Order: sequence, then structure tokens, then C-alpha cells
Amino acid sequence: MRRYLRVVVLCLACGFCSLLYAFSQLAVSLEEGAGGGGGKPQAAAASWLAGGGRGAGRGAGSAGPAAHPGPSDRYSLKMQPVERVHLAVVACGERLEETLTMLKSALIFSIKPLQFHIFAEDQLHDSFKGILNSWSFLQTFNYSLYPITFPSENAAEWKKLFKPCASQRLFLPLILKEVDSLLYVDTDILFLRPVDDIWSLLKKFNSTQIAAMAPEHEEPRIGWYNRFARHPYYGKTGVNSGVMLMNMTRMRRKYFKNDMTSVRLRWGDILMPLLKKYKLNITWGDQDLLNIIFFHNPESLFVFPCQWNYRPDHCIYGSNCQEAEEEGIFILHGNRGVYHDDKQPAFRAIYEALRNCSFEDDNIHSLLKPLELELQKTVHTYCGKIYKIFIKQLTKSIQDRYDRPPKER
Ligand SMILES: *[C@@H]1O[C@H](CO)[C@@H](O)[C@H](O)[C@H]1NC(C)=O
Ligand SMILES: *[C@@H]1O[C@H](CO)[C@@H](O)[C@H](O)[C@H]1NC(C)=O
Ligand SMILES: *[C@@H]1O[C@H](CO)[C@@H](O)[C@H](O)[C@H]1NC(C)=O
Ligand SMILES: *[C@@H]1O[C@H](CO)[C@@H](O)[C@H](O)[C@H]1NC(C)=O
Ligand SMILES: *[C@@H]1O[C@H](CO)[C@@H](O)[C@H](O)[C@H]1NC(C)=O
Repeated sequence: MRRYLRVVVLCLACGFCSLLYAFSQLAVSLEEGAGGGGGKPQAAAASWLAGGGRGAGRGAGSAGPAAHPGPSDRYSLKMQPVERVHLAVVACGERLEETLTMLKSALIFSIKPLQFHIFAEDQLHDSFKGILNSWSFLQTFNYSLYPITFPSENAAEWKKLFKPCASQRLFLPLILKEVDSLLYVDTDILFLRPVDDIWSLLKKFNSTQIAAMAPEHEEPRIGWYNRFARHPYYGKTGVNSGVMLMNMTRMRRKYFKNDMTSVRLRWGDILMPLLKKYKLNITWGDQDLLNIIFFHNPESLFVFPCQWNYRPDHCIYGSNCQEAEEEGIFILHGNRGVYHDDKQPAFRAIYEALRNCSFEDDNIHSLLKPLELELQKTVHTYCGKIYKIFIKQLTKSIQDRYDRPPKER
């Protein structure tokens, strides 16, 4: 009888132990579940509350274990080092406010920390520093300011041939030698989704793709390249370089086919002969050179849909970017100066709303109502006709980013 009792006690003890173990495993997996998706540890929730604002919490949350050792070492060791998103822009002339609005739109919606590479004319540097330093409380970005530069080897020759600002982006793989991948955007871009989303396309590149752009046109009847170009161009209607995602490691390694020599040339060696050959025939500067390069190397280009580079051309002759109607407008590109004149009031209203708003959560929420009223006034224009798509996109992006409790973000 006593032996029997002992066995029962032993079994109970064992059962209790395994129950304890199961609970502890459950706790661990819950903890990891909360910390998983996109590197947002629970520590972020705590610091979000303590930090007295979204900015502080977001910074800590996305800066990962280095900034926040977290509750236990076991937990920290499981965190991946957070990959930083590199965003480059070239700002010349009167583009200060526009560039800052673009950077702000990137900060409002993005999740991973951002590294800005800003190439600007010297007289703009102090203004950039002043404003960007005043945003540093966000702790979600770093920036580097550069003068407009050419690779030293033949800088003088380049300056003679080309307007400096117009060709800067071609040289980014050669200037930012330490950077693996980069998203280049024009100053007149506005992010309506997190930059993380377009950045994730890099992982979809197949083994031969080195860069990604959107088509210049969806509708060949109104396309520019297929009607007017006096040089080769990519695909049916060419590509637009206003939003260009690059794996620069691959760009620096690749040997490019070309129509100047029978040997393949590296990025650093192809640009000068290309420009010399085509300089009398190109209209849109470096975008034309990119079109020529990818005409000869089509396997190297990843073409993303129009909603990643949504321009007035997609709505002024009737809506022709079907993906945007179905899934939303992810990146807005106000080319033709539409943020600053009255030709496309819908584009202008979105620009002004983002330019005017500050980084506080309340402010970002309260941008929607007046914007919707503003956009309703534009329904007589083609781009205004689809204003509901703009509102839907912004509402969704703001909800995704700000309406969930901090620890789920
Ligand atoms: C900014 O750079 C500093 C120094 O390189 C680094 O310690 C910090 O974590 C960076 N912050 C972000 C948000 O990337
Ligand atoms: C430039 O355009 C002219 C006129 O269309 C054409 O004859 C010439 O072949 C073009 N040059 C190059 C290098 O393609
Ligand atoms: C860019 O390409 C290189 C070489 O193929 C690769 O090692 C790297 O992971 C790629 N970068 C990204 C962000 O995918
Ligand atoms: C990668 O995709 C491009 C565009 O679809 C294609 O032309 C190329 O052949 C593909 N490369 C490989 C290795 O599959
Ligand atoms: C933005 O601010 C300007 C002036 O500060 C104002 O005239 C304009 O109506 C505002 N626009 C929006 C959409 O908030």
C-alpha cells in the first residue's frame, strides 16, 4: 500500500513538473510571438509608454537589441540585427520643402529605421541640417548630407557634359561604395505606405535582377518613348526612374551588354561612352541612359507595377493604373510640378496635407478629414474622380501604423 502511494506521489510530481514546463514554454512562445513580426519586441511597448510618445517608442522598438537589451538574454539573442533601409535623394534648386515633405512621409509610415543619403547643392545644407536635427527626437532615422559629386577620375569631363544634378543618381553605386542596396527617389515623391514595403521587393529579385523601376506608361497610345524617343528604351513604353530600387552590390559587379563595344562593361565604365554616343538624342537626361542600359540588359530589371510610382499620367487621361484601383496607391509621384500649381488639385491637396502635418499621432489622424473635404472639391478633374482611392489608402496606412496598441505595431 505504501509502495502504491509512493508511486502515485511520484506520478503526481512528474505530472506537475511537465505542466510547469509546458506553461513556461507557452510563456516563451507568447513572448516571442509578440516580439516577432518585423522586430518589434515587447520592450518597445514598455518604452513606448515610458518614452511619452510614439517617436521615442518607435525608435526603441525598431533599433532592436542594441538599443534595448530586453527582459532576458535568451530573448535578446534571438533577435536579428535590424536591417536598415537606405533612402537616397538629390535636391537642387528650389526643392528643399518638397524633399523634406518626402522624407516626412517616409518617416510617418515606415517601420524599420531609415538611413537617408541626401545629395544637395551646398547652399541647401544648413537648412537640411536645421530641420532634420529638429526631427531627431523620433530616433527612427539617421542622415548623411553630401555635396553634388562625381567620381573623381573624370569629374571635370562629366561636369562639362551633363547638368550636375541631373546625373547624380547614376553615380550612387560608385559613390556609396559601402551600401549594399538603396532606394532612390525623386524629390517629388510621397510615400503613402511604409518604405519597408517597397524595400521588401529586393528579396523578390531573381539571380539576374539588379534594379527595379515602374513602366513609364501603362497606355502605349499616350506613351512618350514609343512615340518620340530617338534611342533604345526598355520594354514597350520605357521605364520611369523617379522611384528606383537598386541592389548596388550587384550593379557594381555586373558586366553590361552594350552597343558601343563587343566587350561587356562595368557600371563605372559604361556611363561615359553611353553619354557621348547618345547625348544629342536624349531628352530626359539620366532616365534615358537607364532605359538604354536596360534595353540591352533586360534580364537585369525587375519591373514593379504602377502603384509604386503613381503619376498624374495614370489618371489625367482617364484611369489607367488598374493595380492602384484594386490594391491602392503606394507611392505618389507628383511630376510635372503638380504639387505647386493648380493643374492637378488632388495631388496638390495630398502634398499640402503631408507638408502641414506634424509628427504627433493626433495630428496625423486629423489630417484625414480636412483632406477628404479638400479632395471632394477636385472630383471634376480626372485625378479627383478617384479621390476615394487616395483616402482609402491613407486611412489604411494610418490605421496600420497608429490605431493598433503599441505592442502590436
Ligand atoms: C544612427 O547612427 C548611430 C551611430 O552610427 C547609431 O548608434 C544609431 O543606432 C543610429 N540610429 C538609427 C535609428 O539608425
Ligand atoms: C539619333 O537620332 C537620329 C535621328 O533620329 C538618328 O538618325 C541617330 O541614329 C540617333 N543616334 C543614335 C546614336 O542612335
Ligand atoms: C544584393 O545582392 C547581393 C549579391 O547577390 C546579396 O548578397 C545581397 O543580399 C543582396 N541584397 C539584398 C538586400 O537583397
Ligand atoms: C529574372 O527575371 C527577368 C524578368 O522577368 C527575366 O528576364 C530573367 O530571365 C530572369 N532571370 C532568371 C535567372 O530567371
Ligand atoms: C496647409 O497650410 C497652408 C498654410 O499654412 C494652408 O493655406 C493650407 O490650406 C493647408 N492645407 C492643408 C491641406 O492642410
